[in-house]
Amino acid sequence: MFKVNPYRPGAGLMPTYIAGRDDDINAIEQMFIALKMNIPTQSIIFSGLRGVGKTVLINKLQDIAEEKEIFCRHIEVEERNDFISQIATCSQAFLRKVSTKEKFKHLIQKPLDAIKSLVVSFDPNGSTFSLSVQERELYKSNSLTQSLTEVFVTIGETAYKTETPICFFIDEIQYMKQNELGSLIAALHRTNQLGYPVMIVGAGLPKIYKMLSEEKSYSERLFLYKEIGSLTDDQSKKAIVEPAKKFKISYTEDAIKKIIKITKGYPFFIQQLCQVVYKNTDDKIIQECHIDNNIEEFFTLLDVGFFKVRYERCSDGEKKFIFAMVSCEELPCTISNVSKQLNKKVKTISPTRAQLISKGIIFPVRHSELDFTVPEFTGYIQRLDEYKQWCEEN
Ligand SMILES: Nc1ncnc2c1ncn2[C@@H]1O[C@H](COP(=O)(O)OP(=O)(O)O)[C@@H](O)[C@H]1O
Ligand SMILES: [Mg+2]
Repeated sequence: MFKVNPYRPGAGLMPTYIAGRDDDINAIEQMFIALKMNIPTQSIIFSGLRGVGKTVLINKLQDIAEEKEIFCRHIEVEERNDFISQIATCSQAFLRKVSTKEKFKHLIQKPLDAIKSLVVSFDPNGSTFSLSVQERELYKSNSLTQSLTEVFVTIGETAYKTETPICFFIDEIQYMKQNELGSLIAALHRTNQLGYPVMIVGAGLPKIYKMLSEEKSYSERLFLYKEIGSLTDDQSKKAIVEPAKKFKISYTEDAIKKIIKITKGYPFFIQQLCQVVYKNTDDKIIQECHIDNNIEEFFTLLDVGFFKVRYERCSDGEKKFIFAMVSCEELPCTISNVSKQLNKKVKTISPTRAQLISKGIIFPVRHSELDFTVPEFTGYIQRLDEYKQWCEEN
C-alpha cells in the first residue's frame, strides 16, 4: 500500500522540519526588517559542501522576505552560465511590479534604459528587446561593471522611492564567471553607498570564499560570510525525529545514534537514510536493527543518485586525479602529494586540478590543499572497482 513518507532527500527539497538553522534564520530576519525600513544592509553568502542545506536555507529565507513584502527573485546560476540574462529578467520583473501603480510610472524609464544597455552589451543571445541598429549603438557599453552598476543603482533608487526593497537570492554562485562576480560586488557596493535598499542572499560551494576575497578588498565588508556544515548531534536528532512525529512514529536512542554515526549529521544523508528506513519499517518504534537492515539500500541509493552523477562527469584524467586524492593518507591533501601518487610533475597535473575545481568536484582548502565538495566521496570511490584496479596497478 502507498505510505506517505515525511523525509525528502533531493537537491533543494524543503524538509518537513528544518533542523539547526534557527540562529541563521533569526539573524537574517532582523536584516530583512532593517531592509524593509529602507535601511541598506549587508548582504550574506552561505557556503558549504553539497547536501548541507544551502538551497533549502535560502529558499526558507526567501519565504520570510516575501512575507515582509520585500521584492524577491531566485536566481540559480548554471554551469553553462547565464547570469547576466537572469539578473536582467529579475530587474525587469521588479519594474513591472512597480509600474502597476500609476503614481510610480515615471520612475521606470531610467532603470529600463539601464537594463536595455546591459542586455544589448552583455547578453549576446538576448532577445528581450528588439532594437534598430542605431539604437543598438546608442545602448552599447564596454564595461560590464559600469552597466551592472547602472542597473543596480537605478532599480535601487526606484526601490527606495517606492519603498519596495529588493532581495535577490543567488544560488550556485561558484558558477559565476570571475568578472561577473567582480561586477556584481561593485554594483552592490555602489548601491549601498547611495543608501538604496538592495540586498543579496547567496549560496555556493566553499571555493566562493576565495573567489570573493580575490575580487575586491571591500567585499569582506559588503558580505557576511557564513559557512554551513553538518548538523550537531542534537540538531541531527531533531532532523530524524521531528518529521516522523506527526505520523506517531518514534525512534529509540540507539537507532538515533546509529543514524547519526552513519550520516555524520549531513542533512541530505539523514533524509535519505530515514526515508529508506521509514519506507521499509512497519513498527511504530524504529530500532537499531531496522537501521542495520537498511544500510545497504541506503548506500546503493547514495551511490546511484548522489555520487555517481558527479563522478561520471569527469574525464579519465580527472578520475585518476580523484583516485590519487583518495589514496593520499588524509584529506585535505596537497597537490604535491597527488602528483607523487600519480608519478607526475605538479605542473602537468595543474590543469586537471583547475578543471575539477571548475566542475565543482573539488575545492582548494587554505593555500595548497584540496578536498572534495561532496561529503563522504572518498568512501564512494573506495567502493568502485575502477579504483581498486587502479590501486593494484600503481
Ligand atoms: N536544516 C535541515 N534539516 C533537515 N534536512 C535538511 C536541512 N537542510 C537541508 N536538508 C535536506 O538535505 C537535502 C539537501 O539540501 P540542499 O538545500 O539541496 O543542500 P545544498 O544546496 O547545500 O546542496 C535535502 O533533501 C533537504 O531536504
Ligand atoms: Mg543547492
